[in-house]
Amino acid sequence: MVSIRFNQQWFDVSDDETVLDALLREGVSVPYSCRSGACQTCMMRAETGKPPEDAQKGLKPTRKARNHFLACLCKPEMDMEVVLPTDLPPPVKATVKRLLPLSADIIEVTLTTEIPVDYRPGQFITVMSPDRLSRSYSLASVPEEDEGLVLHVRRLPGGRVSGWIHETLREGDTLECSGPLGDCFYVPGQPSQPLLLIGTGSGLAPLYGILRDALRHGHDAPIRLFHGSRDAEGLYLQNELRILAENDPRFDYTPCLSGSEAPPNHAQGRAHTVALTDIANLTGWRIFLCGHPEMVQQARFQAFLAGALLDDIHADPFSLDKLETE
Ligand SMILES: Cc1cc2nc3c(=O)[nH]c(=O)nc-3n(C[C@H](O)[C@H](O)[C@H](O)COP(=O)(O)OP(=O)(O)OC[C@H]3O[C@@H](n4cnc5c(N)ncnc54)[C@H](O)[C@@H]3O)c2cc1C
Ligand code: FES
Repeated sequence: MVSIRFNQQWFDVSDDETVLDALLREGVSVPYSCRSGACQTCMMRAETGKPPEDAQKGLKPTRKARNHFLACLCKPEMDMEVVLPTDLPPPVKATVKRLLPLSADIIEVTLTTEIPVDYRPGQFITVMSPDRLSRSYSLASVPEEDEGLVLHVRRLPGGRVSGWIHETLREGDTLECSGPLGDCFYVPGQPSQPLLLIGTGSGLAPLYGILRDALRHGHDAPIRLFHGSRDAEGLYLQNELRILAENDPRFDYTPCLSGSEAPPNHAQGRAHTVALTDIANLTGWRIFLCGHPEMVQQARFQAFLAGALLDDIHADPFSLDKLETE
C-alpha cells in the first residue's frame, strides 16, 4: 500500500486503486469527469515521487516532464505529494444562445463564448455545472459554417449534469467551459479515402460535425454514416441527414434500430453490426466510432479484423454509464 499527500493530508491508496478513487472514497472534492483518461479534467502534478507512465497518457511532453498525470489513471507505485496544476488555461465563459429539443431525450445546446474557441468538429469541450461538476460534450458544429459551439446532450436517467442541462438551463444563462480536447476529427489531405462513421445515441454529435467538415473540404470518396439506437425515438436529425444524402452522391446514411422492428428505410440491428455486414472489407477506410464504450470497443476490433489499420480508426467512447443503452 502507498500513500499520497494532498491538501496537507495523507491518504492511503489500496492496491489497484487510482488516486482519484482514493480521494473520492475519502470525500475529498477534486475535479473529474470521464474517469477514463479522455477529458484531462482530473489532471494533477506530483511534487514528490514519480507518477507511472500509464497515468500520463495523452499529456503533452512538457507536462509529462513536469510530473503531471491523470488522477483517474494513476495507480501510484510510490508515495507521492500531489497538487492541482496552477497553470491550466482559465475556463471560458459561455452564454447559452439556443436550446432546441432534437428528440425526446436529446437537446441541442448552442453556446457563444466570450473569447473565441479554436476547435475542430468532433473534438469535445468540458462544461461545468453550478455545483462544480464537469462533463464533456462533443462539438457537432463546424466553425466555418455555424455560429457558436453546438452540443447534443442526451438526458440520462438520474444524470446530474445532463439533467441540469435539460431541466434548469435556459437561453441567456451563462456557464463555464474548457477545452477543446480530443483527436477524433477530420484531417484533410486524403480525399479519396472512404470514410465510415458509426455512432450510437448522442454519439451522432461529433459525427455530424466530422461529416460536414469532410464534405466542406471536398472529400471525394464515399462517406457512409450508420446511426444506431434501440428504438425510433432515439434517432434524431433524420430529415437533415436524408436530405443531405439525397443531394450529395458522396454521402450515404443508414439509421439502424436494434430493439424494435425497423420500419422501411431503416436497417435492423446494432449500428456497427449493420455497417460491418454491409462493408465486409475495410482495407483503406478511415473510421470514426462515437458513443457507447462497448460499441466503440467491439467495432474497433471488428473493423481491424475487416482490414482497417488501427491508425485509421478514430474513436470517442462516451463515459461508461450502465443505464445508457443503444
Ligand atoms: C469525450 C466524451 C465526449 C462526450 N460527448 C457527449 C455528447 O456529445 N453528448 C452526450 O450526451 N454525452 C457525451 N458524453 C457523456 C457526458 O460527458 C456525461 O458523461 C453524461 O452527460 C452523463 O453525465 P451526468 O452528469 O448527466 O450523469 P452522472 O450524474 O455522471 O450519472 C451517469 C449515469 O450513472 C448513473 N448513476 C449516477 N450515480 C450512480 C450511482 N451512485 N449508482 C448507480 N448509478 C448511478 C446515473 O443515473 C446516470 O445514468 C461524452 C463523454 C466523453 C468522455
Ligand atoms: S476524469 Fe480523468 S481524464 Fe477524465
